[in-house]
Amino acid sequence: MEHTIIENLNWRYATKKFDATKKIAKADLEILKEAIRLSASAYGLQPYQVILLEDEDLRAQIKAVAWNQAQVTEASDVLIFANMTAIGLKEVESYIENMSSVRAIPAANLKGFADMMNNAVTTLTPEAKEVWTAKQTYIALGTLLSAAAELKIDATPMEGFEMNAVNQILNLTEKGLSATLIVTLGYRDENDASQFLKKVRKPNEELFITL
Ligand SMILES: Cc1cc2nc3c(=O)[nH]c(=O)nc-3n(C[C@H](O)[C@H](O)[C@H](O)COP(=O)(O)O)c2cc1C
Repeated sequence: MEHTIIENLNWRYATKKFDATKKIAKADLEILKEAIRLSASAYGLQPYQVILLEDEDLRAQIKAVAWNQAQVTEASDVLIFANMTAIGLKEVESYIENMSSVRAIPAANLKGFADMMNNAVTTLTPEAKEVWTAKQTYIALGTLLSAAAELKIDATPMEGFEMNAVNQILNLTEKGLSATLIVTLGYRDENDASQFLKKVRKPNEELFITL
């Protein structure tokens, strides 16, 4: 099967060792940020924030609570996806204001949409709300991984960290956020053995059900 997207997806892999001497150009990083920004989310609410972890000391602290995974300090850039823990009327209102301004629609004309979203988010239990906002970050992750592969930038998605410790180190709780994912970005070390491994994926007949 030959197509650029398939080539890119075969090229990418969860990088274990980055070449710490190679930095992502600022312009490329902006493209990756824009891919995240353009990512789909439920209703378009984007109920998360993405932390660009530049501070070396913070990176070392995060590595210590992320199974000591070397990528956290060796990669060119580190992003932390954090879901909003208590999305509610305020966030819906701000989204409606944004939509009203971008599309030049009076906010009153968006009341039906606003009511629907308010109803959806306010009826969720706090736990369900957290699960729902956390899910949205994974969609942005998928978009980021594809975009990075297209730019031939390596990326490692990571769930291997202590969420509470990361929240504490980065003061996320007081910002109404909770870390879901760390993504390290950069360029693979030529000796990273993982890049030479064949992809292990389910065959189509196990993965897809045609009804
Ligand atoms: C949500 C998520 C969490 C992951 N957590 C880690 C992690 O903490 N450390 C790591 O090295 N790889 C992690 N991975 C990478 C997966 O192990 C990898 O994507 C999978 O084995 C498929 O291999 P490939 O991505 O190299 O094709 C994670 C992947 C995803 C999608």
